[in-house]
Amino acid sequence: MTDRIAIVGGSGLAWLEELEIERQKIVVTPYGEPSAPLAFGHFAGIPVVFLPRHGGEHTIPPHRVNYRANIWALESVGVKRIISVASVGGISMEPGILCVPDQIIDYTWGRDHTFVECCETTPIKHVDFSQPYCEELRHILIKAGRNASVRIKTEGTYGATQGPRLESAAEIQRMHRDGCDLVGMTGMPEAALARELDLCFAHLSLVVNWAAGLGKGPITAHEIQKNLDASIELVKSLLKNLELSQA
Ligand code: HPA
Repeated sequence: MTDRIAIVGGSGLAWLEELEIERQKIVVTPYGEPSAPLAFGHFAGIPVVFLPRHGGEHTIPPHRVNYRANIWALESVGVKRIISVASVGGISMEPGILCVPDQIIDYTWGRDHTFVECCETTPIKHVDFSQPYCEELRHILIKAGRNASVRIKTEGTYGATQGPRLESAAEIQRMHRDGCDLVGMTGMPEAALARELDLCFAHLSLVVNWAAGLGKGPITAHEIQKNLDASIELVKSLLKNLELSQA
């Protein structure tokens, strides 16, 4: 099977207009339905599979995304590498910047977070997650960002919160003490599920607001949308500069 790279799009990237779609595929998984049919096509000459995490109409909230179905579906069509794109709040990074995080802290709860089920005949598997992201793909993203002349941080700790509400100022202070640089609602269990299936997974975070208590006043939808609109253009130019060799 061809090594197509998957792009999982988040808020602001529910669709890639420049994606030349060749076909769409509804994948049935043992875990239920993925967020949308998989869209196969070419983006800037690169063969990709695109999946909008929040659904085609952007109606699936972070705590209801079927992360297992999404990752399983991508693996089932032969994907080996996944670029996950999502907007985040900045704890140590200002709005407008992109970041390719290198670490994660998981504060989510109650999500179907693993493919390991009780009590299969195969022995229990504990995957290594010391380095939660794929270094090779992280470097491809960083290089593409540099080639596209976008401001990009090459490391950072992503704190995954449950949502859909934003955090309290005290929660952000705690996350800051924990070492988080970014806060988002969809980074987990996506990354861990990809690791369980031995996929190369990296994340591109778009900082769209200062996290709670760090900006001037409350976080507004207007502020988020304004920064998202600007950042998404940076993401598209970064993606157009991806230099992918065969995995
Ligand atoms: N918190 C959590 N998720 C987010 C935020 C935030 O401030 N901004 C965008 N996604």
